[in-house]
Amino acid sequence: MKKFALHLSTLIISLLLPIETMAKTVIVSSPDKKIVIHVNDDKQPNYQVIFNGEQVISSSKLGLLFKNTHGFSEGFKIDSVTTNQVNTTWQLPWGERKNVIDKHNELLVTFTTPRDSANKYKVRFRAFNDGIGFRYEVPKQKGLNQVEITNELTEFSLTNAKESIAWWIPARGWNRYEYTYNTTDVESVDRAHTPFTFKLPSGTHVSIHEAALVDYAAMTINQQRPGILKADLTPWSDGVLVKTKTNFKSPWRTIQISKDAVGLLNSNLILNLNEPNKLGDVSWVEPGKYVGIWWGMHINANTWGSGEKHGATTSETKRYMDFAAEHGFSGVLVEGWNIGWDGDWFNNGDVFNFTKAYDDFDIEAVSKYGASKGVKLIGHHETSGNVTNYRNQMSAAYKLYQKYGVSQVKTGYVADGGNIKRIDDNGIVRKEWHDGQFMVNEYLHSVTEAAKYKISINTHEPIKATGLRRTYPNWIAREGARGQEFNAWGTPPNPPEHTAILPFTRLLAGPMDFTPGIFDMSFNGLGSDSNRPQTTLAKQLALYVVLYSPIQMAADLPKNYQANMAAFQFIKDVPTDWHNSIAIAGEVGDYVAFARQERDGDDWFVGALTDENARELTLKLDFLEKGRRYQAQIYRDGNEAEWVNNPYDLIIEKRNVQSTDSISLPLATSGGAAIRFKAIN
Ligand code: NOJ
Ligand code: CA
Repeated sequence: MKKFALHLSTLIISLLLPIETMAKTVIVSSPDKKIVIHVNDDKQPNYQVIFNGEQVISSSKLGLLFKNTHGFSEGFKIDSVTTNQVNTTWQLPWGERKNVIDKHNELLVTFTTPRDSANKYKVRFRAFNDGIGFRYEVPKQKGLNQVEITNELTEFSLTNAKESIAWWIPARGWNRYEYTYNTTDVESVDRAHTPFTFKLPSGTHVSIHEAALVDYAAMTINQQRPGILKADLTPWSDGVLVKTKTNFKSPWRTIQISKDAVGLLNSNLILNLNEPNKLGDVSWVEPGKYVGIWWGMHINANTWGSGEKHGATTSETKRYMDFAAEHGFSGVLVEGWNIGWDGDWFNNGDVFNFTKAYDDFDIEAVSKYGASKGVKLIGHHETSGNVTNYRNQMSAAYKLYQKYGVSQVKTGYVADGGNIKRIDDNGIVRKEWHDGQFMVNEYLHSVTEAAKYKISINTHEPIKATGLRRTYPNWIAREGARGQEFNAWGTPPNPPEHTAILPFTRLLAGPMDFTPGIFDMSFNGLGSDSNRPQTTLAKQLALYVVLYSPIQMAADLPKNYQANMAAFQFIKDVPTDWHNSIAIAGEVGDYVAFARQERDGDDWFVGALTDENARELTLKLDFLEKGRRYQAQIYRDGNEAEWVNNPYDLIIEKRNVQSTDSISLPLATSGGAAIRFKAIN
């Protein structure tokens, strides 16, 4: 890394105006020069972004407003700039790739205003080849100590919102991030969560999100005027957006930009804008595959609560452990083992006990049994949104799990949006959003607390991912979108296009615990009107490669895998930790294909899937190592397959291939293909 004085990639353009009113523009370009950010101080600090000569973001405001004191808004002028260039490679302890290149040009702009206090603000911009990031840095200064942010003025403006297409889910809704995606023109969007992905008429694809969301409210998008997407921070229960003190830094506001849809999938921007690992040795964080006492509850075969159908019993857990050991799974998730599930568990947050088991579950016996077979119990903490109850028991709960060799805990925050219950310092009950500053801190607290016990956390009903897995690698996965569970009981279940949209939206933020692999789709009958996965069987297999997560569940009941061991073989073979990943084809909402190379191994894997339309995908195999031969073990839709009434028609075939070959995959309606390329020389 080197600091350098202003040079060609950073220009100051002064317009011919009297000194006091002179508007300045400073610019910084990406290393490949294709992306250019202009920062300007005319009237109000603002920026624009150009990609390949096209204005992707037109002049958009920057600024912050505070309660009871001056903010950063009109009248601030560019005072000085410093620049920096970075070109380095760092490693992920686990991930979709091992080596991550961080190559960017940075521009730190200091704005000032003539008043004598609270007159200095910085905005740091970074231009990468795959997009940009910027954040506010507010130094300690006279007139600014404790601050309450009442408005973040950041805008993302589009000149062609009506002609651009967005894939988005609503923000500030009762179901948090668990919505089906809307596909509309950008002008029809009101409030949306990020990653907010859209396609300009030119074909350029853009996704707005944030990185390193720490001690701040999540940013959602609110289109207050046509084409002006304004940052809309999720408030505290008292209406304040962010409570903080100087010095502070906002999360990075990120804009991923690519000439095509696939380019978005190969971006490392979000990770690159996070801090390096703060946990030191994280060899105890273990990617892997798991099964669990889970789907049975979702399809009403079992209950979380006690009684005849109680799923989490000692004997059932041992049976799952036998199955896991036999087929190479490292963990068994058990939900419903602890006291508190009886009655309406959605509203049971106050009574969950995280250290006391039901009588028919012996945690010591199951963990010993698992240890004898090399299988770990995976813990579960459902809070039903009562975070004070959870926090009060957190250390004891993690300690108990550590004692029994549990190294991964799935947490849950089932409660309507805006209804997280916390008891404040005065004993008063407050209702918070899942993505407000309070919960942003609460989720991270559970992760750093768990790290003390060498426990990894898989958060359900989480705060969205913003790349913090780089800094806290034990934040191993999260939900944060509609997962497989919606196919059991959602109205409607996930439509065929859902998993062709997720990679370009939710998954840009980070891994998702989607829980693929439902083999029996007939639990409510087939057809298009019942609750079931609206996919073929081959598409369920493809999800293991398409939807990246370092932990992947084989979500169905063991008996449904025992009934189809040939197809199950792919789930047994597919790794969850990768040396490299390359998106090789895709259009948002239509289809997508990924090739991934296993970590510490030679095999490659491909997953490809389509929406409700059948199509043939021809994929070049040029990702394979040149000169090597591979046996392609192909799991694809049969000739009669279609998702509505014939999802099980699956062809498994083997063929030898090399990097100069192509492979044609006929995908059925809502179909898919999964391939293992086993190196043979
Ligand atoms: C919702 C989670 O997404 C699901 O996986 C879990 O089984 C239930 N909550 C109960 O905790
Ligand atoms: Ca959920």
